Amino acid sequence: MPVVNPYLVGNYAPVTTEETVTDLPVSGTLPSVLRGRYLRNGPNPLAPPEPSTYHWFTGEGMVHGIRLEEGRAAWYRNRWVRSADVAAALGEQPHPGPVVDGMDFAANTNVIAHAGRTYAIVEAGARPYELTAELETVGASDFQGTLPGGYTAHPKRDPQTGELHAISYYWGWGNQVQYTVVGADGRVRRVVDIPVGGLVSVHDMSLTTRYAVIYDLPVVFSAEALMEGFAFPYRWSDDYPSRVGLLPLEGGADDVTWCDVEPCYVFHPMNAYDEDGSVVVDLVRHPKMFASHLNGPDEGPPVLERWHIDPIAAKVTTEVVDDRPQEFPRVDERVVGRTHRFGYSAALRDRQQDEVGFDVGSDLLKHDLKAGTTEARHVRGGAGEAVFVPENATAAEDDGYVLSLVYDNERDASDLLVLHAQDFTGEPVAVVHLPVRVPFGFHGNWAPDGT
Ligand SMILES: [Fe+2]
Repeated sequence: MPVVNPYLVGNYAPVTTEETVTDLPVSGTLPSVLRGRYLRNGPNPLAPPEPSTYHWFTGEGMVHGIRLEEGRAAWYRNRWVRSADVAAALGEQPHPGPVVDGMDFAANTNVIAHAGRTYAIVEAGARPYELTAELETVGASDFQGTLPGGYTAHPKRDPQTGELHAISYYWGWGNQVQYTVVGADGRVRRVVDIPVGGLVSVHDMSLTTRYAVIYDLPVVFSAEALMEGFAFPYRWSDDYPSRVGLLPLEGGADDVTWCDVEPCYVFHPMNAYDEDGSVVVDLVRHPKMFASHLNGPDEGPPVLERWHIDPIAAKVTTEVVDDRPQEFPRVDERVVGRTHRFGYSAALRDRQQDEVGFDVGSDLLKHDLKAGTTEARHVRGGAGEAVFVPENATAAEDDGYVLSLVYDNERDASDLLVLHAQDFTGEPVAVVHLPVRVPFGFHGNWAPDGT
């Protein structure tokens, strides 16, 4: 029997062409506040990979973009990120840039706009790749000569300062992770190397007004996995202690307060904030990661939890907020690091019970963390990460729109779903119909004009 890798079939399967389509059909009415680009990144292998060892995290990045303006969907584009290998495979000239340690990778995990530029970004040692506004590759970027090494897929933007805070990792750095702050001018202004207990994989971080939160959890570099041909050579370790660290924002490595936690893995916090000297984090907790399922994130149900991190007692208490399997938690970007009431995520199907068989988002979820309620909106073919766009700069939290790329399995194509966040299960405000499929991927953002 040939090996079936779930991340290569169905709507995970890569697309084979790049498209430029203008004036897309729209159902409903696109709000006038939506002037900018919806951007999303994900793995899209150029050449068919070996199914037995293909890891979802390692396909070459393809960025998808939909430009909205004046109530119309002006264009859709999808472009591979041109690392040297991708450019060569496409028969194009390379885009030279400041690649470090030979870690040249077509960044596949997230795409952000910052300081007037667009970046495809990834973890584990590779540089960001800068793109044009229309998603053509400019080249690898070190943020104008200021970034020491690789970056991360999950910087957090402080809504007050506009600065990007990040925790990055790379096995070649040895037993440390790196905290960086990129200013609103797009240049790194602060770097702190933080010793940890091994060659750990730290996917994301949290930010509060006082701290950067470091998730030092037991997924570590495995030379054995590398030798066996796994392109993402990180595995669960029963021996690596699980802890979270609170780094004071202007502090040094010696100022980190480390707090033990039960073994688990966290890809994505929803948001964090300070409360009475402690830190409150809502996050999606996986019971394990890359222990027995080595080709993708699939080790038991990931649930929404609230953690209270007490830096005085160095203790973490946890409670389950919502026990349905879910991922890709997001909040209104204006409350990052501040108290939030609402969060949005994507529910996951049970792979065993669903004949479609893949763990895509089957529902979009809206959590009211104050009321303790969750609304679920069913999405027939599967939904990606939800991104919130406020109605205007001073609108209340949750007064705005939730955007998500959803797969229409009858049309075998994707739609950009635009919901009013306060009418989450009602009629969509608008649906932009793409002529093609956008494979299930990772992260995206709304990039309003002028950012
Ligand atoms: Fe992520």
